[in-house]
Amino acid sequence: MGDDATFETYFANPPAGIDLTALDRSRIPRHISCIMDGNGRWATERGLARGEGHRAGIVSLREIITACVRLDVEVLSAYAFSTENWSRPQAEVNLLMHLFAQTFIQELPLLRRENVKVVFLGDISALPKETREVFEYGLQETAQHTGMTLALAVNYGARAELARAARRLAERVAAGELDPTGIDEAAVAGELYTAGLPDPELVVRTSGEMRLSNYLLWQVAYAEFYITPTYWPDFNRWELLRAIIAFQGRDRRFGGLSATKES
Ligand code: FPP
Repeated sequence: MGDDATFETYFANPPAGIDLTALDRSRIPRHISCIMDGNGRWATERGLARGEGHRAGIVSLREIITACVRLDVEVLSAYAFSTENWSRPQAEVNLLMHLFAQTFIQELPLLRRENVKVVFLGDISALPKETREVFEYGLQETAQHTGMTLALAVNYGARAELARAARRLAERVAAGELDPTGIDEAAVAGELYTAGLPDPELVVRTSGEMRLSNYLLWQVAYAEFYITPTYWPDFNRWELLRAIIAFQGRDRRFGGLSATKES
């Protein structure tokens, strides 16, 4: 491990405006989810090709993975490619698919060192061969890891996920394995790509957009949202701390009354 191996060293020297004493390390969200947006605009504003924005976005993701491990987050999920992203120009889709494969191979040592287990949300069987094979290899290679789970949403769409869950439940009913009265919330959750994972408690969206873009519609029922104008390539460990400190300041009521109110 390097000299950034502990929380104290990784978060040493915070920039002005970040008060580490405001962070309650006993109340870190179990599952943080990132909608990584703004790579293209980041690049365009610098006169660079969009692909450079995606490359810079990968560097950010690497930092956020390490930061979440240092913070003892249980699950970090990230929206890398949606079912709608296939409609981007073919050259950008090809570049993204190639970058995913290349990055994944490059980052395997990091995932091993940090004991990170990777899972995919979405239909990775439909990805180009290179990317699919690298992802399948990564799944196998990290399956035994016992630290943080990194859930990468690739070829993911929440409506497609819910339709798939309904289909799978219907198949079990048709096969006589399940009675329709047994289809409760847990049964639906059990057929989602996120089965077995806690729901996101904090969803971060970068680049200021105020929308969910077909992401984890079921799972974010009670999540807190943190939207920052920062483009994803500029989102770093300190921005993440800002988001967590904001989350810790929220009054989460889950439809009930405030925990701080008497009645
Ligand atoms: C959004 O920016 C970002 C993406 C479509 C892809 C992001 C993917 C990564 C950062 C890396 C993921 C890595 C692996 C290994 C899966 P945008 O292009 O929508 O930006 P714009 O809204 O400014 O155009």
